Amino acid sequence: NDLKSIKDVYKKDFLIGNAIAAEDMEGIRLDLLKKHFNVMTAGNAMKPDALQPTKGNFTFADADKLVDKVLSEGFKMHGHTLVWHQQSPAWLNTKVDASGNSIPLSREEALTNLRTHIKTVVEHYGNKVISWDVVNEGMNDNPTNPSDWKAALRQSPWYQAIGPDYMEQAFLAAREVLDAHPNWDVKLYYNDYNDDNQNKSKAIYYMVKELNEKYAKTHPGKLLIDGVGMQAHYNMSTNPSNVELSLERFISLGVEVSITELDVQAGSDFKLTDEVADAQGYLYAQLFDIYKKHAANISRVTIWGLDDGTSWRSSTNPLPFDKNLQAKPAFTGVVDPT
Ligand code: XIL
Repeated sequence: NDLKSIKDVYKKDFLIGNAIAAEDMEGIRLDLLKKHFNVMTAGNAMKPDALQPTKGNFTFADADKLVDKVLSEGFKMHGHTLVWHQQSPAWLNTKVDASGNSIPLSREEALTNLRTHIKTVVEHYGNKVISWDVVNEGMNDNPTNPSDWKAALRQSPWYQAIGPDYMEQAFLAAREVLDAHPNWDVKLYYNDYNDDNQNKSKAIYYMVKELNEKYAKTHPGKLLIDGVGMQAHYNMSTNPSNVELSLERFISLGVEVSITELDVQAGSDFKLTDEVADAQGYLYAQLFDIYKKHAANISRVTIWGLDDGTSWRSSTNPLPFDKNLQAKPAFTGVVDPT
């Protein structure tokens, strides 16, 4: 068909990504992905529950098949995700006590599990990925005092077992692997949502700043955290000015910034009126205007799924293609932002 190609439009600006499962890597879905995108994220296949369901039992087969297929089709691959409070097996950081209650593992045991998972997975995929989300969604929403970022950390099972330095420990473990392979080019990201909330983006800013400054004292000129990922799960009330403020704040850290999981919820019950579809298109256009303006500091913009029918938020029609893979006004917003 005669649609513009998203990746061609942004060829000089940033990589353009999508989130996929194995069934997207064939037929017309693969054709559409190849036309518009050049980097893939596994929507689920590389999460902790998929890669190490039980202790020491690394189940790489399905993810390996997907990654190898993605690379053989000419895409790059981004790794998602090493440390998260969801889609992670309980044994990683909790145990069951004598009364049958789930309690945190000891700091030592949890740290060992954290490090083993990260090091094994980063080593396994090596240079096949361009980057990893090392820690995903580690910050509370709308923290009251963002400069006290440790107090703003989500009280996740990892936090409960290890304490606030689980964050630094996670990046150090991944960094150790990369240091042992200086020929690999893999960037380490912190990734989170509600990135347009100013208090939350400030807390992330202070965290990355402090951890990178501390690391640079012993590793002059080197970064511990290479990048910040803005998930960008937005809705029709999202204010693009807040998105830009957060983006500029992250850029000011001197790290890479990527938009990692973009979608914009609109309508409901799988219905989208023409009016709302146009408004959604306009919001996509405003966002891509901002991304283009800051393109020199944005590495990748990834849209979270190919079409409304298979989106994780399907009922709210959040993507540029509808369930029949037809381009919506949101698509026009992406390719013709101004
Ligand atoms: C979502 C997937 O798209 C769904 O298929 C799954 O059921 C739940 O997770 N933030 C993230 C992603 O970092 O991993 C999530 O992906 C969406 C929110």
